[in-house]
Amino acid sequence: MIKLSTRLEAISSLVPNKSKVIDVGCDHGLLDIYLYQKKISDKIIASDINENALKNAKENIEKNKLEKLIETRLGNGLDTLYETDEIDTIIISGMGAHTAVDILKNNLQKLEKIKTIIIQSNTKLEFLRKEIIKINYLIEDEILIEDNKKIYTIIKFRKGKKKYSKKELYFGPILLKKNTKLFQNNNKLELEKLYLLLKLLPKNKIIDRYKIKKKISMYE
Ligand SMILES: C[S@@+](CC[C@H](N)C(=O)[O-])C[C@H]1O[C@@H](n2cnc3c(N)ncnc32)[C@H](O)[C@@H]1O
Repeated sequence: MIKLSTRLEAISSLVPNKSKVIDVGCDHGLLDIYLYQKKISDKIIASDINENALKNAKENIEKNKLEKLIETRLGNGLDTLYETDEIDTIIISGMGAHTAVDILKNNLQKLEKIKTIIIQSNTKLEFLRKEIIKINYLIEDEILIEDNKKIYTIIKFRKGKKKYSKKELYFGPILLKKNTKLFQNNNKLELEKLYLLLKLLPKNKIIDRYKIKKKISMYE
């Protein structure tokens, strides 16, 4: 069994049992190897836009003798996914929120059979939640973890509709409920950063100052 980083292992913990997965932006392909070895998924497509990344994935998959079981595909986003694939789960990890949202929105018709979307992104999480909810997914689970002194958020979306408050979209509805020590400490740090930013921002930057103050009020 290959050993995953804390971040990748946390992503794997959100993948439904017996799911059929496409990992968009698989890079090294380690998550896909693990998902197969752990018997979490029995059909896996490891896909990447970058030839070298996919070569890396292929080598790792071959090293683990899974080349007949994990398919690799070169291409942009969901362009590599076909209706005949019968995939029900998409994983997008280690990308910015805008890239992740574009990947899904560029191929909306391919989401018809997709029950679960798992995204690990560290930028613009409020935007990410809002956009994925707009395309008719709800937030089933969220994990906040620390790996190598970095904090990561992983969100599991499930097909369905649900309304969320501004606060839930900003902090994460499930993260708010779980309210872990890490979540509390992370929020304290973010609040300190916002206060510092406000202090450094010239008084004539009225709109920027207003936006920061609004964010501060959410934390408080
Ligand atoms: C930082 S790596 C993350 C790798 C892995 N998913 C992880 O979480 O460890 C991002 C990967 O996404 C790939 N990528 C970026 N944009 C992509 C796109 N539009 N379609 C497919 N792959 C993409 C990159 O080539 C790169 O291999």
